[in-house]
Amino acid sequence: MTDVPPFAPEWLALREDADARARSREPVGLIGDRGRVVADLGCGTGSLGRWLSPRLPSPQHWVLFDRDPRLLSVAERSVPGATTEARRHDLAALRSADLSGCTLVVASALLDVLTRPAVDTLVGAVADAGCPALFSLTVAGRVELSPADPLDGAVARAFDAHQRRGGLMGPDAVGAARASFAERGVATRTFPSPWRLGGEDGALLAAWLRGWVGAALEQDPDLPADAYLERRLEECSRGALFAIVHHTDLWADPAGDDR
Ligand SMILES: C[S@@+](CC[C@H](N)C(=O)[O-])C[C@H]1O[C@@H](n2cnc3c(N)ncnc32)[C@H](O)[C@@H]1O
Repeated sequence: MTDVPPFAPEWLALREDADARARSREPVGLIGDRGRVVADLGCGTGSLGRWLSPRLPSPQHWVLFDRDPRLLSVAERSVPGATTEARRHDLAALRSADLSGCTLVVASALLDVLTRPAVDTLVGAVADAGCPALFSLTVAGRVELSPADPLDGAVARAFDAHQRRGGLMGPDAVGAARASFAERGVATRTFPSPWRLGGEDGALLAAWLRGWVGAALEQDPDLPADAYLERRLEECSRGALFAIVHHTDLWADPAGDDR
């Protein structure tokens, strides 16, 4: 697969297995019986619902929010064993009334693609709604590649700067969301949820590498990254490259303790 935009259904499908393996199980245990009416913010094609719904007590109803109607139409048909409703919505303008009746808010791979005001608005809506929330798989800004390459650090720094372009939160998202919840008196906890990609994940690893290096080059066109990408893709094709892409799962609970 060549370059795929970050919200393309092909990219979301390619990462779904790695996401499922990476998700922390610990916050799921904290949900208890509060997963009956679940708001999935930025649901994409419903990857999180496919993973989480079988782990929660039934019956469940999922309220699926996204601004992309094409993704919503897939998601509303794909949460197993639950009723669903789809809402086309800009999450940067979310209000607590939009979450009325929901007992749990979830999101996956969302916070890092929002701006600080959008994170703050969203956190305000969730806190005012008074339900617990699980924001999973937010980028942490740390990547470990094995074998190491002298250019790894420069590519990683340029990628992180690209993630922060135009005021997007990128790797600062979890810190910003925690601070915003703390201001509203809502306790949070974080859990590591790294992708661990090796020989069996060749297609995802190659697509991720192309996106990672491509974004770094867009940010810093002087980086000598073309030969780097060729080298890394060749290692990947031989099953000789291993990557840990760090993410964080954030749990926010108005009834919880800060840790
Ligand atoms: C990286 S994708 C993750 C999709 C899905 N949660 C998953 O894990 O596969 C981010 C999703 O958030 C949605 N999104 C991003 N910004 C949004 C906004 N301001 N309002 C509504 N949806 C948004 C995108 O359309 C996309 O579906």
